[in-house]
Amino acid sequence: MKFQVVGKDINSLQGEALVVGVYQDQVLSPVAARIDEKMSSLLKDFLKDIHFKAEVGKCVFMPGHKDVKFKNIIIVGLGKKEKLSLDTVRQAAAAGLKEAKKLRHKEVYFELLGEEALGDETAKALAEGIELADYQFDKYKKKEEDEVKIEKIKVLGEETVNSWLELGQKLAAATNFTRDIVNEPGNVIKPADLADIAQKLAQEYGLACTVYDEERLKAEKMHGILAVGQGSAHPPRFIHLIYKPQNPIKRVVFIGKGITFDSGGLDIKPEQFMKTMKCDKAGACAVLGIMKAVAELKLDIEVHGLIPTAENMPGGNAFRPDDIIVYKNGKGVKIANTDADGRLILADALIYGSALKPDVMIDMATLTGACMVALGRFTTGIFSPQGELAAKIKTLGEKTGEKFWQLPLDDDLKEEIKSPFADIKNVGSRYGGAITAALFLKEFVGEEVENWVHLDIAGPAFLEKAWKYYAEGATGVPVRTMVEFLREIK
Ligand code: BES
Repeated sequence: MKFQVVGKDINSLQGEALVVGVYQDQVLSPVAARIDEKMSSLLKDFLKDIHFKAEVGKCVFMPGHKDVKFKNIIIVGLGKKEKLSLDTVRQAAAAGLKEAKKLRHKEVYFELLGEEALGDETAKALAEGIELADYQFDKYKKKEEDEVKIEKIKVLGEETVNSWLELGQKLAAATNFTRDIVNEPGNVIKPADLADIAQKLAQEYGLACTVYDEERLKAEKMHGILAVGQGSAHPPRFIHLIYKPQNPIKRVVFIGKGITFDSGGLDIKPEQFMKTMKCDKAGACAVLGIMKAVAELKLDIEVHGLIPTAENMPGGNAFRPDDIIVYKNGKGVKIANTDADGRLILADALIYGSALKPDVMIDMATLTGACMVALGRFTTGIFSPQGELAAKIKTLGEKTGEKFWQLPLDDDLKEEIKSPFADIKNVGSRYGGAITAALFLKEFVGEEVENWVHLDIAGPAFLEKAWKYYAEGATGVPVRTMVEFLREIK
């Protein structure tokens, strides 16, 4: 889709469709008000007649008028004026786009909703809402012969919003890139395929990329990745991507869980919990999306993307409950449950990442069902010994529309992962399962790392039903928030 800024003068514009915003109680946005005036109040009357409540994301359309030269005017709800937020803009833009698609328009004009209220960021949110809502994972579906694609988005506003639209588009493109990989099934993406994607990305953007195969994993004593991957016919990998600008102001390490399919292993999952487990590589795919965005935006931060990746399968060579593995840092771990696989592969990456002595290290993983029990389907759990850092991410999430909530790294629960046979074991009891998983990870964060954050994205990474501007499937969470985080680092 191509974005273009056009002037705000409604008198000089004409086209296929125009999307305008309306607040609750029929409070019109500035452009909607101008249109209403030109139509001698027809717009207002229409909205009144159909009892349009203008809830966020709700949408109706009416035909144009001799003085308003658009085929259709699409009216999107913005909710209460005093509650307008950037996420309202995303949702409204998404609703407008979908309606225009249904009406088979190729070119759509968008009023910059609430521009006066929210400033430049509005343009970014508008572009994000449009691009995220336009995404559909349909490559395995036959195309409709008469399919219409929206080609041009024209935004009513000043020239200055151009760069913000572009930024929003880039962030959404990186997110959609992530979604595309997550949505690919386990028969298409195996650990070596993830490595291929990383290498292609590196070539495209001039990143450094190293991939460890099984031999190298053994040499590097990455025993967690090897154990989880040993039951699969498709061997595991470890991927290290580096973006290094000339004079970086900070060094940040991102780590993403890349279980390409999580059957649970010998502690096999029941059918209803296994069926979405292609999503267990969402953390890894988010790291790839972040690397893409960082390179696109040419940020002045050195960024490392680390991806431990394996397929967790049962089989004659699979790792077993009660196996004991010893990590490079000397820690012995008893496998209490082969389904607690993410923490085992992340441990290797956390040891490796710590050695890079980063200013900040953030891991992201579809780690526990327990986090979903605690926070629901839409919220990422944040775990960090640094309260300020956790609070910062949560606040950024309020801007990006990706939701976060901090959960405690409660040391009293450490007892739960003690074992008589090894330093620790990989699961505790049912209670506080997301917390004991995070406590396990903390054991592998080196003392040299002051700022570490673990993000449990088990809920929001993958949706079983469409929500807001997201279609069913992968969301690309937390790519946009992480890039915002980097953009704001000083
Ligand atoms: N991949 C799952 C976690 C998950 C659940 C991700 C739902 C996305 C949606 C993870 O590997 C897992 O199964 N964890 C177990 C841990 C348990 C055995 C301690 C879980 O959460 O049940």
